[in-house]
Amino acid sequence: MNATIPAHIAIMMDGNGRWGKQRGLTRSQGHYAGSQTMEAIIMDSMEMGIQVLTLYAFSTENWKRPKDEVQYLMDLPAKFLTAKLPVFMANDIKVCISGDIDGLPLHTKEAVKMAMHSTKDNSSFTVNFALNYGRRSELLAAIKKIAHDLNRSDVVLEEITEELIETHLFTSGLPDPDLIIRTGGEKRISNFLLWQSSKSQLWFTDTYFPDFNKDLLLQAIYDVNDRKGL
Ligand code: FPP
Repeated sequence: MNATIPAHIAIMMDGNGRWGKQRGLTRSQGHYAGSQTMEAIIMDSMEMGIQVLTLYAFSTENWKRPKDEVQYLMDLPAKFLTAKLPVFMANDIKVCISGDIDGLPLHTKEAVKMAMHSTKDNSSFTVNFALNYGRRSELLAAIKKIAHDLNRSDVVLEEITEELIETHLFTSGLPDPDLIIRTGGEKRISNFLLWQSSKSQLWFTDTYFPDFNKDLLLQAIYDVNDRKGL
């Protein structure tokens, strides 16, 4: 069967902590396993012809987690992006970040900025990490910026369009996701991509993210193709 491949897939990588616990490991070990799955899914997505893959790596709510877990989740991007940069360069993969980068610890911020800068001219595939991302804070920041511009008469009311709002979102320049996948059993999209998900298909699986794989990714794609009668 030939599948119509979505241009942009977003994944909420849920269930790392439970995956770890189930195996007598720590939650952070679950996150490490998740980061390995993430790498495989990035390469699978690129090979399948997906153009953009957004990965929900850290939400604004995740700061409330235990200190050692937050620290581990802030160390992971630096380790991962530094180690994988040669792979991203060799495969023409661009790294984007959606989220409040300035709110990250210095070493995390430097690592993501370095990855974005080094890969900015790559164009075969985009991996977009949602990091320190929250859809409410994203919209709030966009509204504040537009109100500020309106106040200064840098824009007039008639110029406030959907397109203008999109330029103020963290995902500016990226297409909206065609498909949002959530692993780990919960069937809601929490604080993820509010504006951008208005036309997205949603697909849920009980599988914990470290056990997510190419077969499940294909299953999600086939299922939404079926729903759309493709
Ligand atoms: C949600 O599972 C997952 C996260 C909060 C973190 C996901 C991060 C990665 C997979 C790696 C990120 C790496 C880079 C390079 C950005 P959970 O902790 O909520 O699991 P649970 O639902 O079982 O508690």
